[in-house]
Amino acid sequence: MKINFKITTLLLLFMVSAISCEKKEEVEKQVNEETLTLKSAFSDDFFVGSAVNDNHINGKDTLALQLIGKEFNTLTPENIMKWMNIHPEENTFNYNMSDQYVALGEKNTMHIVGHTLVWHSQLAPYINTISDSATMAENLKSHINTIVGKYKGRIHSWDVVNEALNEDGTLRESIFLKVMGKDYINYAFQLAALADPAAELNYNDYNLWKPEKRAGVVQLVKDLQAKGTKIDGVGMQAHWSLEGPSLEDIENSIIAYSDLGVKVMFTELDITVLPNPWDLNGAAVEQSYEQFEGDPKMNPYPNTLPDSIQNKLAKRYEDIFNLFLKHKDKISRVTFWGVHDGQSWLNDWPIKGRTNHPLLFDRKLNPKKAYQQIIELKKQN
Ligand code: G3I
Repeated sequence: MKINFKITTLLLLFMVSAISCEKKEEVEKQVNEETLTLKSAFSDDFFVGSAVNDNHINGKDTLALQLIGKEFNTLTPENIMKWMNIHPEENTFNYNMSDQYVALGEKNTMHIVGHTLVWHSQLAPYINTISDSATMAENLKSHINTIVGKYKGRIHSWDVVNEALNEDGTLRESIFLKVMGKDYINYAFQLAALADPAAELNYNDYNLWKPEKRAGVVQLVKDLQAKGTKIDGVGMQAHWSLEGPSLEDIENSIIAYSDLGVKVMFTELDITVLPNPWDLNGAAVEQSYEQFEGDPKMNPYPNTLPDSIQNKLAKRYEDIFNLFLKHKDKISRVTFWGVHDGQSWLNDWPIKGRTNHPLLFDRKLNPKKAYQQIIELKKQN
């Protein structure tokens, strides 16, 4: 009788503690889920980040800074490290903004990206006057050695060469190619590796889902590898739309790049919801788009995004993140090109003065349905 009583008491105690454990776990899970942010939700998968502009870097945009600190664990400077800004004249380096940028990343213990060392666009004018190979090589050396060397151990990842390929996968006729030939790419990567052997070195470009351009990247990476030059990753910029590219094309590129033994990154993700001039019959890509400025047909959502499009955007982001999660072993970083819709370059490109809605946070910095859906997707994975 006594023994029975003891067993029953023990059983009861065990049940009570099991129930309270279960309850505790449930409460913990609830708290966790409520406080999930992009960086915590995907912490086991890949870095999640944002491009930052002048007002984030100089501390003026305090609201966006709170959001950045809460949601992201990697940063990319949208403009301040481009050649024309950081190295405007041959012997002038302008570190005012880049020092503040790196300090911002360090304050938040973030993975800090340098964007970008060698790009045909936003160049300092003196580079365009160089016509012999030795002088160009000297200038590349001074640019890369000085900047990568200065931030050695503090900038963790560099977009070493940006947009060196044409859409058909051939090399773009940039000033660097014209003057130095195709070895400028290898030279740039070698210089960066020497200046900071521990930094991650990447090739970055847009439309890298395109099969022809993909083949160009594969060749470029193989050429570097054949020469024993360090290349760690391929950055797919990911300026996409509601309609394309297809998940299949994106997936094929993830696999092709990863098969080369390099990491894959999505470095400039945004999804335009607006019509583009090249989708219109008869609008050639090369023509000026000024004619469309102020045209309400080209700016259909100047106030809020209708639910139907908000839902489409959410579904598109969900599909894309589903693919990213499927290949999380190959993907090291996903960076959005801007913090919120009001700060996106897509409000002024390809047509100035429009209201685009391409990111996860709206103009009031509130998370959009796309944000909720991505977090929800992660909870189920
Ligand atoms: O800072 C000046 C300002 O002083 C001036 O009054 C104003 C007048 O237009 O221009 C301001 O500079 C603009 C700058 O963005 C900062 O807002 C430039 O005109 C404008 O051309 C520049 O555009 C940037 C573009 O690269 C060209 O550098 C976009 O913000 C930036 O989002 C975009 O980013 C690129 C990536 O670096 C590479 N991949 C493609 C991506 C989108 O184009």
